[in-house]
Amino acid sequence: MAETGPLVFAHRGSSEALPEHTLGAYLRAVDEGADGLECDVRLTRDGHLICMHDRRLERTSNGRGVVSAHTLAELNQLDFGSWHPPWPDSPDDLILDRRGGHAAVLTLERLLDAALAAGRPIRLLIETKHPARFGHLVEVRLVAMLRRYGLERPGESPVRVTVMSFSPGALRRVRQLAPELPTVLLMDLLPPWLRDGRLPSGIRIAGPGIRVIRNRPRLAERLRGQGNELYVWTVNTAADVDLVLTLGADGIISDRPRFVLDRLGR
Ligand code: G3P
Ligand code: CA
Repeated sequence: MAETGPLVFAHRGSSEALPEHTLGAYLRAVDEGADGLECDVRLTRDGHLICMHDRRLERTSNGRGVVSAHTLAELNQLDFGSWHPPWPDSPDDLILDRRGGHAAVLTLERLLDAALAAGRPIRLLIETKHPARFGHLVEVRLVAMLRRYGLERPGESPVRVTVMSFSPGALRRVRQLAPELPTVLLMDLLPPWLRDGRLPSGIRIAGPGIRVIRNRPRLAERLRGQGNELYVWTVNTAADVDLVLTLGADGIISDRPRFVLDRLGR
């Protein structure tokens, strides 16, 4: 853990308060003082990287079908905000990237621009979602975009990118393309090969879900004992914040970044 305590990441933006993966949710997280922003990326049919968790559109928009079967222009017609409960305490201009009155789909490019415009250091945790349709094209496109922004390695920029995946193969591909990009191996179950806490070669950050940590707190010790960092998701309650703090987490990923920061006394 850094001397100042764990990094606090806003999971899909400040996504308890505002619709996940919208520009408003990310701007709110920046305003709330989050150290970093977590974002899932997928490819549209015409090859644009967009910020979106689900494979399908129904839960978080008024569209239907599989995301990867739509072009960006088609997704731009949809509303990604109305499904979420109202947000009375937010100034209107913070809420949405309005396009035709809708909460627009967020491209990764727009998120990178927003992070660079924040005026302070921002960490970005970018998760590539499972590449069923496009193979490793998501990783290829992601690294190409990061390279365009000069973010494919930790450098002078106030924005620092880390790539995450549940797939060791996807992370291997990322490291082949951009060896200096840090990577996080996510896990929602305990892989049998992980019992000694050793991660696959080249990965030095473990990303266990909070349920894994609650059930197996000794795992955190073993992972850290092997020199790995520990980023835990999705940590939304006081009890869970306290638990991961006790276990020495280096990163806390939460839908409620302000709540976590308050709990940490920051
Ligand atoms: O931050 C990691 C976490 O986001 C992984 O799970 O399903 O929310 O993408 P998921
Ligand atoms: Ca994610």
